[in-house]
Amino acid sequence: MGSGKAVEFYIVQRAAAAGEDPVLALFLHEGEPLPAGGAAVDEACGGLLSRVIASGEFQGKARSTLLLHSAGKSGPRRVLLVGLGKRGALDVEGVRRAAGAAALAGQAAKAGEMSAVLPAPGGLRLEDLAAAFVEGSALALYRYLDHRTGEGAENPHPLVRVTLVAADPDARAALDRGVAFGRVLADAAVFARDVGNTPGNEGTPTFLAGKAREIASESGMKLTVLDRADMEREGMGGILGVARGTEEPPKFIVLEHNAGRADLPLYALVGKGVTFDSGGISLKPGADMHEMKFDKCGAVAVLATMRAVGRLKLPLRVAGICPATENLPSGKAYKPGDVVRTLGGRTVEILNTDAEGRMLLVDGITWAKRMQPRCIVDLATLTGACVVALGDAASGLFSTDDRLASSLESAGAAAGERLWRMPVYEEYTEQIKSDVADFKNTGGRNAGACTAAALLKAHAEGTPWAHLDIAGTAWGGKDRDYVRKGATGVGPRTLVRWLVAESAAPGK
Ligand code: BES
Ligand code: MN
Ligand code: ZN
Repeated sequence: MGSGKAVEFYIVQRAAAAGEDPVLALFLHEGEPLPAGGAAVDEACGGLLSRVIASGEFQGKARSTLLLHSAGKSGPRRVLLVGLGKRGALDVEGVRRAAGAAALAGQAAKAGEMSAVLPAPGGLRLEDLAAAFVEGSALALYRYLDHRTGEGAENPHPLVRVTLVAADPDARAALDRGVAFGRVLADAAVFARDVGNTPGNEGTPTFLAGKAREIASESGMKLTVLDRADMEREGMGGILGVARGTEEPPKFIVLEHNAGRADLPLYALVGKGVTFDSGGISLKPGADMHEMKFDKCGAVAVLATMRAVGRLKLPLRVAGICPATENLPSGKAYKPGDVVRTLGGRTVEILNTDAEGRMLLVDGITWAKRMQPRCIVDLATLTGACVVALGDAASGLFSTDDRLASSLESAGAAAGERLWRMPVYEEYTEQIKSDVADFKNTGGRNAGACTAAALLKAHAEGTPWAHLDIAGTAWGGKDRDYVRKGATGVGPRTLVRWLVAESAAPGK
């Protein structure tokens, strides 16, 4: 799907100069000499590398690249120099970005394959570096081509093979682990991008349920999909209110990893799956409305996380809950002034039909709570206000639990997906009290991201809860490092890291 022919990763143990690689990538710090193994490569290339470094033609600036042809009798045929920037400033995210630059330059060399010597900055674990390298290179090469035909339908010179060259035999085990983990993470993000980029006419709630079915059968998970009639029986007035306006069947999707294992702690993930958000009767302006096909990206992140959790066979119970529907205006659509009764029995007055995501999430969170999880984490492209506050530099993190919030923050930092903590003050709950119902679905212009979170918080009450507002980070209008324009695939690489850490030390 989507990305075309996926790149595969290999590891070989030998000296960098010992092979005749079509393209060998070497990573260099700014203002430093060639890395380990580089001197022998330089020698095989007749001193070409030291000459371009000495002349200042290649300075090692972060993500700069230079492709050189060797005239040497042995060693690599071409060498790709890739800059890492200043040594002290390099972290795993820097490695991810440099790997992305290397993969794109390696692909442009049209050999179809590339070898690379992993950068070795001090203080970082080899396993983490290898995972970051795989994430950065695989994700940089991503393209969404599903709906192109003819010439544009595929890349004529894809990079299909990347080989990590390591001289040290003791490095093998850590490299194997890092590459394997990186592949699962990159695959989850690619899945999230593919499903996220799927246009609204194809990427319906039924389509999402089909993706959930594929995940369930691949990893032997339990899958429950409620349709409109089931939801009516359950009393899910939140999602059903939103779904009144569309003829496209809504779905309430529940995937469960290790369902039968009552001995394992349960983690619940809830994702907003609005497959197209027109605003409903409170119709959005036309200008960027087409972008609202991305309003399903919370649900997509949850599905992608479940896929990775299944592949990793994590020793936890994990539930992925995705309420999914379109939000459209019609003669049957819910209206401003309506009052709906949500799954938990509490009532919400609708002031704006465009504040629909929280209505789905309230039912999803209540369903999650009934499963008695250790905690609930929800993801949603919830508010324009969050985009105003943080732009695309971070997702908003709202939580009633400091331990949960900080473990998510660390996982986000490790993934290169920033989370910025936002407040959950009582004032915001006051702001959404209604005159005619328990709550209203909007709290006015001020603190829009926080009042949306307040409605979720009120329904999660009693269970540790965190909410990620990914409205600013779920898609982008331009290519940026290893992230392509369109759906970014934000979420799964953070959530999987978080769950892996939880499985090592649950609740600590
Ligand atoms: N899906 C939107 C939020 C959104 C807007 C995400 C722009 C990304 C970019 C959400 O359903 C919405 O429409 N929220 C409204 C809430 C308002 C009516 C209280 C918003 O943010 O304007
Ligand atoms: Mn909306
Ligand atoms: Zn929405």
